[in-house]
Amino acid sequence: MARKKIALVTGGYSGEAAISYKSAITVANNLDISQFDVYKIDIAKDGWWYLPDEQSRIAVNKADFSITLSDESVHFDAILMCIHGTPGEDGKLQGYFDLLGLPYTSCDAATSALTFNKRYTVAVAAFSGVKVAKSVHVFKHSPISPEAVLEQLQLPVFVKPNNGGSSIGMSKVTEASELQAALDKAFLEDNQLLVEEFIAGREFTIGVFKSKGVITAMPITEIITEEAFFNYEAKYQGKSQEITPAQLDDATRLAIENAAKKVYEVLNCRGVVRIDFIVNSSNGLPYMLEVNTVPGQSAASIIPQQVKAMGWNLPDFYAALIEEALTTIA
Ligand SMILES: Nc1ncnc2c1ncn2[C@@H]1O[C@H](COP(=O)(O)OP(=O)(O)O)[C@@H](O)[C@H]1O
Ligand SMILES: [Mg+2]
Repeated sequence: MARKKIALVTGGYSGEAAISYKSAITVANNLDISQFDVYKIDIAKDGWWYLPDEQSRIAVNKADFSITLSDESVHFDAILMCIHGTPGEDGKLQGYFDLLGLPYTSCDAATSALTFNKRYTVAVAAFSGVKVAKSVHVFKHSPISPEAVLEQLQLPVFVKPNNGGSSIGMSKVTEASELQAALDKAFLEDNQLLVEEFIAGREFTIGVFKSKGVITAMPITEIITEEAFFNYEAKYQGKSQEITPAQLDDATRLAIENAAKKVYEVLNCRGVVRIDFIVNSSNGLPYMLEVNTVPGQSAASIIPQQVKAMGWNLPDFYAALIEEALTTIA
């Protein structure tokens, strides 16, 4: 069988680009070259580039996402999505690839756009019966006073940019007098915010993927952080411990797995996603925080750890994601 031509799409326009490049290195090193010809494509603000090696770059033809090499024109069989943040995790590139009829490994355009909005994600998840924190959605164009927010929510609350990633601009607020400053800080990152009641309890994150029609929940990871929450320093500067598989009683493990699979199903996800939960210490139930539709794949990232804990190797895992994309006509 001829090898499939795979575009490994990395970079992106947000601050998460640096992490996307690291993810792409792991993925590139773990793609089975007997099955796939891999082309690394950098989606950067100054253009879209095929990177044949460290020194050169060749512009991508945006009309059909092809590349022209000296002796041939390359059209891809599938796109392996490895961009965290816009435009690869929020539905924009997904819509473009849909228009071109090119299959890709991530969730479709609608699901990517919806899950990039944390408030809409928890709203849909709650519809499926999964627990979520009580929250208020705040827009810059319609300012709301801290008092009005606290009429609807109990302290402590968590303030976060609605579309952000990597925990930038977030705060935990324990005193009413701190809320305005937290809103102002988060508005520096986004035009809409989510104010949520703080859920006290153990924090977990779980990968979920679909292969050959079967939705699989991966081994759960517990996040233990020295910081006040799983913030940027905890995520990327080693100030947290990640334990895979998490030490859990069977009932709690099953409750998290079932909630994760339900969220994957209700949101019609595709590929591998990673869903964050807090098990509320007051009632023992998992509360969903958010869905990451292009989770990190760097050597230190959680999904590669969960793949190993599942007893799989990365080349088989990435091949399964590509196979699933190839069988999905957008
Ligand atoms: N409602 C909440 N209650 C308690 N902790 C929260 C809440 N929302 C977020 N957190 C903490 O903040 C971290 C980041 O929030 P999250 O919604 O996962 O955003 P992101 O990972 O995109 O920055 C979580 O991992 C968790 O530690
Ligand atoms: Mg998160």
